[in-house]
Amino acid sequence: MGTETKAEKKQIIFSGMQPTGVLTLGNYIGALKNWIHLQDNYHSLFCIVDLHSITLRQDPAVLRKRSRELLMQYIAAGLDPEKNIIFYQSHVPAHSELAWILNCYTYMGELNRMTQFKEKSEKNEANINAGLFTYPVLMAADILLYQADLVPVGDDQKQHLEITRDIAQRFNNIYGEVFTVPEPYIPKVGARIMSLQEPMKKMSKSDDNENAYIGILDEPNRIRNKVKRAVTDSLGVISYNDDQPGVKNLLNIYCSLRGETVESALSHFEGKGYGDLKKEVGEAIVDELTPLQDRFKELEKNKDYIDQIIKTNGEKANQLAQRTLQKVQRKVGFPSRI
Ligand code: TYM
Repeated sequence: MGTETKAEKKQIIFSGMQPTGVLTLGNYIGALKNWIHLQDNYHSLFCIVDLHSITLRQDPAVLRKRSRELLMQYIAAGLDPEKNIIFYQSHVPAHSELAWILNCYTYMGELNRMTQFKEKSEKNEANINAGLFTYPVLMAADILLYQADLVPVGDDQKQHLEITRDIAQRFNNIYGEVFTVPEPYIPKVGARIMSLQEPMKKMSKSDDNENAYIGILDEPNRIRNKVKRAVTDSLGVISYNDDQPGVKNLLNIYCSLRGETVESALSHFEGKGYGDLKKEVGEAIVDELTPLQDRFKELEKNKDYIDQIIKTNGEKANQLAQRTLQKVQRKVGFPSRI
C-alpha cells in the first residue's frame, strides 16, 4: 500500500460486519467506534460481508438494500472512504477463492468446536448448511487476503480470530511466510454489550424483541424509551459487578460513549438512582448517534457519491487481494497463467 519506506510502514487493519439487519449499539461500541479511532494510524479495509450473510436465508431485495445501508452507516459513523477501503465482500472474488483453498487446510474437528456454529445451528435447525459450518474459514480468508495485522472486533469473534491465526500458522509452516498472523483488537470496556431486556444475553440485531436492542438509526425518543425500560434489579444500588448485569451493562455503555473509566462513572453516580442512570445513558446514546443519523440522511440523497465509492473501493480491494491470492496459488502448486 502506497510508497512509504519500511520504517514508516503503517500496519493493516481488516474488519467487517454482516448486512443482516439494523446495526445495533453493540456493533457500534464493540467494533465500529473503534474502527473510527484506529483509521488514522493504519491502512484499513472495512468490508460488508454479504457472502457470510447467506449462511442464513435472506430475502434478496432486502439483503441488497441492507448492504448499501450498512456501507452508508460505516461512512456516516465517520469512516473516511477516501482513506480507507470500504467495500462489498461479494465484489472481490478472491475471498471465495482463498476460502476454498483454506478449507483444505482446516480440520472438521476445529470447526466443530466453534461456539457460534453450535448456537446458529440450534437456532436454525432446518438449515444447517455447509456454509454455516465453514463460515470461519471464509472469515480467515477475508483477513489473511489483505495481510492484516490487526482485527478490531467484539468479544464474540475471539474464537474466529483464534482459528484464523491457527490456519495462517499452519499454512506458513508448510509454505513459508505467506500470511501475516493477525492479532485481535478487542476493547476493554464494551466488547460485549448485553441485551437491554435479558442482560445475560448478548445484544443482537436478530433479537425478536425490539426493546432488547438499540438500532443505531433509532429515533432519539425511541432510544430514551428503550433505555428507560431496560431490565435492572431490585438492589437499587449503582455498582459494577456480575450480580447486577443490567446495571453493569448500562455502565459499560455510559463509559464507552462518554470516554470515562468505570471508577469515575461510579463516583459520578454515587447516591443516584436507576432512573438517573437510565436518563444519562439515554442521553449519552442520543448525543453519540444524532450526528451519525444526520449524516446518514445526507448520504441517502447522494446516490452518485455512494456508487462511486463502491466502484473505486471495490477495485482497490481487488488489486490488493490478487497479490496474496496469486502468491497462495503459486505456493500450493497451481499452474501460472500464460
Ligand atoms: P457481526 O456482523 O455479527 O458483528 C459485527 C461486529 O460487531 C461486534 N458485536 C458486538 N460487540 C459488542 N457487543 C455486542 N453485543 C456485539 N454484537 C456484535 C462483533 O464482534 C463484530 O466485531 N463474523 C463477523 C463478520 C466478519 C468479520 C470478518 C469480522 C466476517 N469476516 C473478518 C472481522 C474480520 C460477524 O458476524 O460480525
